[in-house]
Amino acid sequence: MTKMKLFTERTVILWLCVAVALTTAELVKLNTVDSLIVPCHQSVTLQCSISTSQEGLSVTHMAWVRQDGKCLCDVNETGVTGTHPGNTPSVMECSYTPQTQLTLTLLQVQPLEQGKYLCKLRSNKGVKMSTTTVKLQECYRTVQPSISDEGPTCTFTGVYPDGKVHWFQGPNNVTGESKINTKQVEDGGSLTVTSSLKRKTVSGEGSYNCSLWIPSTGAYLTSSLVVPEHGEARVNVLNASGAGAIGPMWKPWVFLVPLSTLFLV
Ligand SMILES: *[C@@H]1O[C@H](CO)[C@@H](O)[C@H](O)[C@H]1NC(C)=O
Ligand SMILES: *[C@@H]1O[C@H](CO)[C@@H](O)[C@H](O)[C@H]1NC(C)=O
Ligand SMILES: *[C@@H]1O[C@H](CO)[C@@H](O)[C@H](O)[C@H]1NC(C)=O
Repeated sequence: MTKMKLFTERTVILWLCVAVALTTAELVKLNTVDSLIVPCHQSVTLQCSISTSQEGLSVTHMAWVRQDGKCLCDVNETGVTGTHPGNTPSVMECSYTPQTQLTLTLLQVQPLEQGKYLCKLRSNKGVKMSTTTVKLQECYRTVQPSISDEGPTCTFTGVYPDGKVHWFQGPNNVTGESKINTKQVEDGGSLTVTSSLKRKTVSGEGSYNCSLWIPSTGAYLTSSLVVPEHGEARVNVLNASGAGAIGPMWKPWVFLVPLSTLFLV
């Protein structure tokens, strides 16, 4: 019976595959963290390390590959690393410790770069793959408050995720008087959010507070004071806690989720 024969052959092949997978699993392992959560515009480092219980491991090819299949950084048997930035928004760095670890650093991670990153290995002890998922926390890059003839204006750049500007004067919520509200998508997928109040500012008048509301988190991310003074804006930025908002604020806000154990390919 051909059907029966086919079935048996398939079973044998299946068993062979399982056996091979089990054997290579013992020879070499790849370790990556399951996920990394970072504020945007900061650097994120993806590490992929090889562990093996055996002597004589020889790496033929090792790479960090984005989920869309684009190879970002790789190394061949000569040990020379190559980066392939292409049209990726971030500047990248790639480093390799021979037979041990391949590290990819995205220097200013952008919303469009969220997703899965695959570490792939080909070696004389087998083929392996492991993934890290990169997710971004809410953030902004800068806030520029100003006063024009039109009235007080605030521009927030590098905003992620979507945000809205709420206006206050003292205890009063004057958001209803905001006139121009614009949003522009920046290259990496974050937003520039601008809002102006329909108010002539008068010297000595109370200052205005523009606050960036992030609907998805249900919280204000930052706020800025716009102070009318002799017809000019004296500008105070409050609570510049956004990522890289003012000056270099590289915070090690990287939460590591326990090391992934190995997946069979
Ligand atoms: C201010 O007004 C806006 C628009 O009416 C509203 O969405 C927001 O919740 C108000 N904020 C506070 C703190 O009252
Ligand atoms: C500006 O308004 C926000 C939202 O109500 C508030 O959290 C923040 O403390 C205000 N800042 C100042 C200086 O009034
Ligand atoms: C403002 O700064 C204070 C102290 O630095 C912090 O506790 C608070 O969470 C900040 N608020 C916002 C909206 O970032």
